[in-house]
Amino acid sequence: MSDLESIPGPLPRHVGIIMDGNGRWARSRGLPREEGHARGADSVRTVVRAARKIGVQALTLFAFSSQNWDRPPEEVFHLMQLLRRYLIQERSEILDNGIRLTTVGDTQRLPDYVRSPLVELMSASADNDDMVLCLALSYGGREMIAKAAAAMCRAAVAGKLDPATVDPEVFGSYLESSNLLPPMDLLIRTSGEHRISNFFLWEIAYAELHFTEKLWPEFERADLEAALRDFGSRERRFGLTSDQIARLPARPAAGDEEGTSAASSSG
Ligand code: IPE
Ligand code: IPE
Ligand code: MG
Repeated sequence: MSDLESIPGPLPRHVGIIMDGNGRWARSRGLPREEGHARGADSVRTVVRAARKIGVQALTLFAFSSQNWDRPPEEVFHLMQLLRRYLIQERSEILDNGIRLTTVGDTQRLPDYVRSPLVELMSASADNDDMVLCLALSYGGREMIAKAAAAMCRAAVAGKLDPATVDPEVFGSYLESSNLLPPMDLLIRTSGEHRISNFFLWEIAYAELHFTEKLWPEFERADLEAALRDFGSRERRFGLTSDQIARLPARPAAGDEEGTSAASSSG
């Protein structure tokens, strides 16, 4: 509880992190990029642990993009090995801490030696409900939107969906993320880059964005707390005026199910 009290303002229900800068961290130390990725995996441990303690409901980590498959094969292989090791080493901590592991992305493309511990841990943790940890793997925001559009077209052709009824809510329900995760309230990107790089696109319509110069291997609990404090200080207006927002009932604390329509919905 003291952890929760240390962050003023509302907590985001769902935090997304574009974990960037592993290569630059290594290069600046004269180390191979692989070393940066290994240190990045340590940051993942730290941040998952901190988010769970602080009381964040859902954390999505951008671990490997659809476009990252085009990196040199040795680097892709190393990242896959690291992912496998992470899933095996963190298994007990994830299960012991009530964390439910899930994924978004084209996980069919992952090698069996990653998919098998991934599927196993997703299934073993399926009943946990203290926090959702979502790994975005082989993930592309545009790819996910195209996939949802294809599913919607199939439903229309099959006569199960009337195109006249399609609105953002209907479309959003076809996205993989919508069944798994609350709306993304806060998106963090490390390493000083100010871009989205094909991470969640549709879902960040009203997310607050937090950019930090810190490279991912240097990212610590204090940096997560700084991002959460930054979030807590923002006025989210969702297209309304400040006066209108001030008149709305306060947004519920993280953990409550429903908020007021404008102040709690981010997409
Ligand atoms: C993020 O670090 C990890 C992945 C994208 C898999 P990078 O490997 O992109 O590091 P930089 O951006 O080259 O420093
Ligand atoms: C985004 O980082 C992908 C992940 C963090 C997994 P990249 O390093 O691939 O993005 P760009 O190339 O800088 O846009
Ligand atoms: Mg990068």
